[in-house]
Amino acid sequence: MSPSGDERPRPLLIRDLAQVASPAGRAAPLRGAGLSEIDLIEDAYVLCEGGRLSAVGSMRDLGRLPGEVEELDGRGMSAVPGLVDCHTHACFAGDRVEEFSLRAGGATYEELHAAGGGILATVRATREAGDEGLRVALERHASWMLRAGTTTFEAKSGYGLDRDTELAQLRVIRDAGGSPTFLGAHAVPPEFGEVGTAAYIEFLIEDVLPDAARLAEAADVFLERGAFGAEEARRYLEACRDAGLGLRLHGDQFTEAGAIPLAVELGARSVDHLESTGDQGIEALAASDVVGVLLPASALLLNRPMPPARALVDAGAAIALATDFNPGSAYCESLPIVCSLACTQLRLSPAEALAACTVNAAHVLRRAERKGRLTAGHDADIVLLAAEDWRHLAYHLGGPVVQTVVQAGRVAWSSPA
Ligand code: NIG
Ligand code: FE
Repeated sequence: MSPSGDERPRPLLIRDLAQVASPAGRAAPLRGAGLSEIDLIEDAYVLCEGGRLSAVGSMRDLGRLPGEVEELDGRGMSAVPGLVDCHTHACFAGDRVEEFSLRAGGATYEELHAAGGGILATVRATREAGDEGLRVALERHASWMLRAGTTTFEAKSGYGLDRDTELAQLRVIRDAGGSPTFLGAHAVPPEFGEVGTAAYIEFLIEDVLPDAARLAEAADVFLERGAFGAEEARRYLEACRDAGLGLRLHGDQFTEAGAIPLAVELGARSVDHLESTGDQGIEALAASDVVGVLLPASALLLNRPMPPARALVDAGAAIALATDFNPGSAYCESLPIVCSLACTQLRLSPAEALAACTVNAAHVLRRAERKGRLTAGHDADIVLLAAEDWRHLAYHLGGPVVQTVVQAGRVAWSSPA
């Protein structure tokens, strides 16, 4: 507290940074050549006031600041915008390390799912956890994400598949400051095995959606062989849209089952995965406003083909990168690792990767006005990297590259090293 008793935090000045790197311009989403344009300031400072960025510039232009200012020494470091993870399943209980071992021995993800394991194993653990258990689990996972540089995250329900647990997940995500997505249509729970998928969709629409729509910002569906078909997905998504939610789809993960045409027709915010997308899908996505969310950690961990990222960008599609953090297909909360995979497996440049997990991911969450850039007026969410060249974000695979994370103008995490 300041001597005047005013509890407003003092402005924070981060000075003498080797580089500040931020996606250029003001547009969102970025596509094509726009994804490669970075505003780079060398020997730079960033000033945060009242939770926002008030100035970003060159040290030689930094005048005297009136009043008390907290200073952070940025020597030897670079700064990028706080990372935005627009696709996670971070609200889960338990883990699936046993399944991981079975997959290492040759079992496939789809086989485990069909045998009642996979997603349904996490559903059992999540239903048992209770509200408090879920809150503790999400806070733990959110702290891992923060340490990896994620200052804004989305998280989905979809491990409850009953009214109370779906709503509990959405509440816990909202209360932790995340962007909640209603993924009731993730799998059909065992109690609907007899009556079937269509009856489960009707249950979601009638009994869960009215309350879910008050908690969530978007809805999502797993459109895939063995999960939900295109017509079931349409019924669910149309009802969710009518209830005021933005639309997302898990699509083209294992098969092309109509996710892209449906997403384009319904004006969805995104189609996520795309490991199986062919030429027609690439063209259709590029001609639309739907963002292709690429999840290379999931493709890597399931030993699946990587999504056609280069072709999507070259065709003019808007893409974002996310972790897909979940206990099954992607037990990885690190966007820096995802950026490394993007530059080595997806043939994206470091600049394209940065835009994809900052401004474009913020656009998917409808937060690009305030998140994803280091621009005066934006939220003061900043990642300080332990390297003078910001491209170490993607270069240092799995290394301690995130030095300090600033959220709303305050240091939220700093590496003890
Ligand atoms: O995005 N594919 C569907 N859902 C998640 C995985 C969820 C899980 O395995 O628990 C995904 O990969
Ligand atoms: Fe997912």
